[in-house]
Amino acid sequence: MPTTPMTTPDSAVAPDLPADGRSPVPAGAPEPAPFTHFPSGVLREALDGVPAPALAAFLDSWNDLPADEYLGTDRPYRFRRYGRFRLLDDGLEPLPHGTFLQDRAVNSLVGGVPRLFAPLHDAVAAGPALRAVVRAFRDRLPGPRHTVDTCGVHQIRVVALPDAEGDPAPEGIHQDGHSYVAQVLIRRDGVEGAQSRLYDLDRCEIHRALLTDPLESIVLDDRRVLHDVSPITSAPGAAIGVRDMLLVDFFASFDSTKEVAL
Ligand SMILES: [Fe+2]
Repeated sequence: MPTTPMTTPDSAVAPDLPADGRSPVPAGAPEPAPFTHFPSGVLREALDGVPAPALAAFLDSWNDLPADEYLGTDRPYRFRRYGRFRLLDDGLEPLPHGTFLQDRAVNSLVGGVPRLFAPLHDAVAAGPALRAVVRAFRDRLPGPRHTVDTCGVHQIRVVALPDAEGDPAPEGIHQDGHSYVAQVLIRRDGVEGAQSRLYDLDRCEIHRALLTDPLESIVLDDRRVLHDVSPITSAPGAAIGVRDMLLVDFFASFDSTKEVAL
């Protein structure tokens, strides 16, 4: 599996932000790779101290996700919950539940539409597993993190039936409109497809991976990388294919274009 070197964020922070809003890089310092593909062991180690019942409840919570009402399809194939948090040194501070808004420039299907998803369960939002996962990625962002003080957490399930595929990224090649995005495989059962692909800003493919190992992850700089995921089909003999993902968006709270609080 191709991987980029793990980075050490905050190892070099420039005092001023570039005018284009990209991560500052000290003069003469090489820009870090725009993504990192982590084997599952990284998160497994981060979750080591989480009590087994809490970890089981966290993973089981993907079995209670409401349908995504904004898909616009006859058959719901995507299910999700969403929550936002202030990043603290020692944890997460839940923010008031609000809508999730992406710009039309990054989401041609539902950009500009405030989407109100169901909130995370309290046990997930306040639990040690989510805290450990977010902290692990916050410490491994592919670039400086000094302006990143907020995160959005998406629990997403995409399903496929023998006669109907599911599409994890119906908008095609895109950016999410954040600073960094962590993509974590939680579960993959009875599924074929779902190639994760990354592209540079000229839309040349720079990474392709099939996430198959639960907790295997990709963390990307959303300003320097585009991404998509190929559709899923159910595996031969499977009554249903299920692909569960945890997405963590990292961004700056002053960037009010991302969220609209209710
Ligand atoms: Fe995306």
